[in-house]
Amino acid sequence: MCKRFVDQVVIVTGGAKGIGWGIAKVFSQEGAKVVVADWDDVNGPKTVEELRQSGGEAIYVKCDVSNEEQVKAMVEETIKTYGRIDVLVNNAGIGVYKSILDTSSEDWDRCLDVNLKGVFLCSKYVIPHMLKQGKGNIINISSVHSFQTVNGVAPYAASKGGITALTRNMAIDYGPTIRVNSIAPGWVLTPLIQSIFDSYPDPEAQRKAVEQRQVMKRIGRPEDIGYAAAFLASDEASFITGTQLFVDGGLTAQLETW
Ligand SMILES: NC(=O)c1ccc[n+]([C@@H]2O[C@H](COP(=O)([O-])OP(=O)(O)OC[C@H]3O[C@@H](n4cnc5c(N)ncnc54)[C@H](O)[C@@H]3O)[C@@H](O)[C@H]2O)c1
Repeated sequence: MCKRFVDQVVIVTGGAKGIGWGIAKVFSQEGAKVVVADWDDVNGPKTVEELRQSGGEAIYVKCDVSNEEQVKAMVEETIKTYGRIDVLVNNAGIGVYKSILDTSSEDWDRCLDVNLKGVFLCSKYVIPHMLKQGKGNIINISSVHSFQTVNGVAPYAASKGGITALTRNMAIDYGPTIRVNSIAPGWVLTPLIQSIFDSYPDPEAQRKAVEQRQVMKRIGRPEDIGYAAAFLASDEASFITGTQLFVDGGLTAQLETW
């Protein structure tokens, strides 16, 4: 494991569990000071404790990414503690899997507020610090649903399409000082995905069926997304901005399985 982020400060929203946990772990292993920004008071401190036990430096800051005052306070707390922000990973997200006719206005607002407005708010309060520093990196966690999708996930897919579009705008508006890219994960085994499997009579069989449909014949691990995020935030990716990296085990490469 290389140490590309020593002395760098990385905010991971939704870092308490799932993909955010995997991202926080990889950056921490590479020497970064990690801010776990999440609203989960149980798993947030647990993740921070785990990072510290492995020799890393980390803090938990309670924050609902859809709440402007809390986002502002989270960024201030980061600056107060570590003095700078090198990388922002906008990962916090929720799934609202419904067709338009089944989606209430409240469902729509909840999904778009967390998934898309959360990216807007966190970026809005972090970008001034990155501009002042003269360098910064933002990684937005989108989804394969920003590109291709399935039935019955309209609010979620719309929010992810929005993130991918916003990524391009942010890259153009704040380059060359700040690079902005998105990652589109395919199936990654997290509490969110486990809850989908658990809604079937045989969750294990459902997971295996999904695995069989993947080109790589497995479901992704949170660390798979962490490694991609670390690459995009590293100097090795210094000519990459405004783009989307698919980390989906080949899912979007195939039309269907025969
Ligand atoms: N798991 C997958 O297969 C998959 C695939 C594509 C994209 N994604 C995206 O990756 C991201 C993480 O997904 P996951 O599967 O790890 O989900 P998860 O539910 O397992 O974890 C999400 C984390 O975000 C936090 N969170 C949710 N809403 C928040 C809010 N308003 N403010 C602060 N924190 C909040 C939760 O507390 C939790 O710690 C999401 O944006 C999701 O859309 C996941």
